[in-house]
Amino acid sequence: MGGGERRIQAQHAKGKLTARERIDVLLDEGSFEEYDMFVTHRCTDFDMEKNKIAGDGVVIGWGTINGRLTYVYSQDFTVLGGSLSETHAAKICKIMDMAMKNGAPVIGLNDSGGARIQEGVASLGGYADVFQKNVLASGVVPQISVIMGPCAGGAVYSPAMTDFIFMVRDTSYMFVTGPDVVKTVTNEIVTAEELGGAKTHTSKSSVADGAFDNDIDALRQIRKLFDFLPLNNRDKPPVRPFFDDPNRMEMSLDTLVPENPNKPYDMTELIIKLADEGDFFEIQKDFAKNILTGFIRLEGQTVGVVANQPMVLAGCLDIESSRKAARFVRFCDAFSIPVLTLVDVPGFLPGTAQEFGGVIKHGAKLLFAYGEATVPKVTLITRKAYGGAYDVMASKHLRGDVNYAWPTAEIAVMGAKGATEIIYRSELGDAEKIAKRTKDYEDRFANPFVAAEKGFIDDVIMPHATRKRICRAFAMLRGKKLENPWKKHDNIPL
Ligand code: HXC
Repeated sequence: MGGGERRIQAQHAKGKLTARERIDVLLDEGSFEEYDMFVTHRCTDFDMEKNKIAGDGVVIGWGTINGRLTYVYSQDFTVLGGSLSETHAAKICKIMDMAMKNGAPVIGLNDSGGARIQEGVASLGGYADVFQKNVLASGVVPQISVIMGPCAGGAVYSPAMTDFIFMVRDTSYMFVTGPDVVKTVTNEIVTAEELGGAKTHTSKSSVADGAFDNDIDALRQIRKLFDFLPLNNRDKPPVRPFFDDPNRMEMSLDTLVPENPNKPYDMTELIIKLADEGDFFEIQKDFAKNILTGFIRLEGQTVGVVANQPMVLAGCLDIESSRKAARFVRFCDAFSIPVLTLVDVPGFLPGTAQEFGGVIKHGAKLLFAYGEATVPKVTLITRKAYGGAYDVMASKHLRGDVNYAWPTAEIAVMGAKGATEIIYRSELGDAEKIAKRTKDYEDRFANPFVAAEKGFIDDVIMPHATRKRICRAFAMLRGKKLENPWKKHDNIPL
């Protein structure tokens, strides 16, 4: 009963489930085994010895999601606001140690008023213990955080170090300093929702990877995501039975790319038509929409997809899209998830905002992520692949295993018009001549064959056969073995 009937009712009145109810939705029925239910805090300041509640504000244990092992902790807001004491932290650490030892993910359901104020530094130490575990677990077992209530102050840094953060709309928020402190220090007036609600973190800050309408929806979606992921970094992603023909032809893809090269089309359509059963679990859907990231399955096997989205900013790369995709590629590589890259990119976004914001370094993140990834990498260029962005988007030169192009692909240093205006600058006054030069450049480069002649493109494939060819490519790559040189760790441009 946690903090008792009255506080449970208050929790429900806010539209929130209790810590145990959440676990019931998240895990397979009857699979949860709880540990440390009898643990209480050891604080004696502020009469705290009279205020002891079994479990000390967090429910920990393990269970299964569709039969596969996971560890869980679920903070109980009804007990002292879910605040984190020394013993509360020790419980979280216990479950994380078990996860590391036994090789299974950790799912954290966060709903907490932060450091247990009565405990002072003991609580801060507890946080740091959890942070350290998060760091060591990173890249070893998947870590998923769901923010289902307050998450403020230093408490945000544990979720921040996990692989994915999801939030519940209207009932959750995350910030380092709350609205009152913000008002005192910077004189800005802002609500908790504006400062750190789900909308802010999914569309502005990119701290969160997705948001859901309520607790039940969020927990159901986490189950879906979990099914895509391996249990640990030595495990393979799970293979799910599939009912979709790998040889399925999609004739509609033959007309997906419009004749006018400046006309956009929706890259999501291609992803959905390639995926088993059209199932696409998108990550960071509302942030940097000029690039799409998420998981699909091909022949039942998890594949991470990165795709330029011509509908937004013509699909160009910029600071935000590079960061978003780089993090996703690194997650996939850390957990042996093959990467499919769909390319239609006119280059990097120009402008002072981009240069001053460090697009050089942020763009390099994506380049670095692709270059270091050793998982199977299949790339398809549907239309434009211009300039440095061609190199970045999992090109052959960054150890792309299979690189395909549609006949509509244009692989060049830049668009024909821009190219002609540079190399024939002296003829710029003569519109007719320039038009002819542009046409000549287009004829030479606005196709995939120059790259194919050099072996940078392995084959030019028909759009309708894309699912079949990409499934076959990943099937061929299932035994891939590639190792990077030994190093303590790399120095990715942060
Ligand atoms: C101890 C806490 C608590 C805390 C809440 N409670 N936060 N107890 N330590 N940090 C208790 C309340 O006393 C109350 O107890 C119960 O939890 C519910 O809290 P309410 O305030 O009634 O709930 P609500 O109105 O929903 O407001 C929730 C809240 C607010 C916004 C989270 O409680 C709040 O502002 N708490 C303090 C937040 C904070 O400053 N935390 C420290 C942040 S610094 P009763 O008995 O009445 O039910 C930090 C540093 C971490 O976390 C550093 C890591 C490096």
